[in-house]
Amino acid sequence: MSWGAARVQSLASTMNEPSKDESSPRKLIIAIDGPAGAGKSTIASRLALKLGYVNLESGAMYRALALKAIERDASFDDEGALVKLAENLHIHLEPTIGGNRTLLDGRDISSRIRERDVSEAASRVSVHPKVREWMVAQQREMGAGGGVVMEGRDIGTQVFPHADLKIFLDADPVVREQRRMAQQKIKGDVAASVAAELRERDRRDRTRAASPLMAAADAVVINSTALSEDDVLAQVERLVSEKLSHR
Ligand code: DC
Repeated sequence: MSWGAARVQSLASTMNEPSKDESSPRKLIIAIDGPAGAGKSTIASRLALKLGYVNLESGAMYRALALKAIERDASFDDEGALVKLAENLHIHLEPTIGGNRTLLDGRDISSRIRERDVSEAASRVSVHPKVREWMVAQQREMGAGGGVVMEGRDIGTQVFPHADLKIFLDADPVVREQRRMAQQKIKGDVAASVAAELRERDRRDRTRAASPLMAAADAVVINSTALSEDDVLAQVERLVSEKLSHR
């Protein structure tokens, strides 16, 4: 399977072959954006599973580039060098139950890219407009056929401004930090420094000049602070049903 110039592959390419049955509806493009810890990944992956869609975590692509930069000792501030690295990346996103398995040059980097140094680096490499341009082009190609739930920071604003459904999932910062701590099963001093890093990445994502994290004007904003995962999923599923019934 080849994407030609695009070196990012995903199962979306094989799952979303044009339907031979003319009566079957085109599958939706669903964008889920929001800050870290708001519950995007879980909701996107559960929703995709229910709909039989592909879940694509765009953050994993920035993380893969960040890892490559760490390994090549490239500066996170050197936009030109980062773009060159990006152009030679072979990332493969493989949707699995509970998230994407990420392969870089055939190597499984799924756990490695969740580590703190990569999280920090991903937030720094993603500020560069030319890096984002490259990422956005790949992401558009991956999702163009529909039948995708793509999550990130700029999916509804930049990648798919005409997505069928845009969700902006937010939550109180303290609650987001607590969720992240629970997820990573960390406490005490480590938890405090991880929380501080999360806050800093959040600030960087929201204030960068290129495609800062923000809700698209036509996104449905869901605040998950006081909601369970099941409640959020139910709300999103209702929105999907409405979209499908109006087609
Ligand atoms: O969603 P995540 O935490 O895995 O994302 C890692 C970093 O990549 C995060 O700091 C923001 C950035 N990112 C982005 O700028 N745009 C996206 N569409 C997805 C992630």
